[in-house]
Amino acid sequence: MAKRLVVANWKMYIERHETAAALAKELKRKLSKLTGVDVVLAPAFPLIPAVSMAVRKTSVRIAGQTLSKFEDGARTGEVSGLMLKNSGASAVIVGHSERRAEGESDEDVRAQIKQAGAAGLRIILCIGEAEREASGAHFSLVADQLRRALSGEGRPPASKLVIAYEPVWAIGKSAAFAMKPAEVEESVLYIRKILAETYGRAEALRIPVLYGGAVEPENAGELIADGGVSGFLVGHASTDPAAFLRILTAAASRKQDPHP
Ligand code: PGA
Repeated sequence: MAKRLVVANWKMYIERHETAAALAKELKRKLSKLTGVDVVLAPAFPLIPAVSMAVRKTSVRIAGQTLSKFEDGARTGEVSGLMLKNSGASAVIVGHSERRAEGESDEDVRAQIKQAGAAGLRIILCIGEAEREASGAHFSLVADQLRRALSGEGRPPASKLVIAYEPVWAIGKSAAFAMKPAEVEESVLYIRKILAETYGRAEALRIPVLYGGAVEPENAGELIADGGVSGFLVGHASTDPAAFLRILTAAASRKQDPHP
């Protein structure tokens, strides 16, 4: 049975490497008792070496929060896939809605995926609608995001891909505003259908589909039990060790296999 996967997106919440390393160490201590869930921490770029050092010799993995769409060269301010890899990351978040809101297009996302793949990084691809429409039009937006990101020569193999479904309207809110498990399940089934077009059904089932957007200890249990998800992408609640641990404990629960 596949392990659940939980990614902590620290955004710009954690700013000092001492704080980041202390949080990582605390998680490392508590995680030793928790099996059944893989954890990935995504600190800001300058914190990656400290966090990676703090969790070395554990199963905790490190991800970048984004990467350059370029490989190398005269690109002031950019961070390449190889730089991420060399500083201790083995994965990278791509296409987060907060970056799409700053102007990243599907084309950029596709170029980033190609670079991430070339550097050997696992890709955590974020998709999600800005609004939920009664007509169901948001489903085609999600399908377009997926198809555009995964088309062309840079398409990652299923083993290197994670999908994070994050309805933009839920991000940063409290659990009461998160998507309900039945709606999450509906979206996840739809995403799996689109993935199957590209990868075939058997391969598509190997791709973890996470839910993100207002995941807190209060709703993590029901989302795992009834949302059909393989795990979570957690923002604000991942910076509070007690809250994050409760989410991890819920995610590790074996009540339901995420892969039908
Ligand atoms: P949130 O953020 O958990 O704070 O809603 C999730 C995300 O943006 O990845």
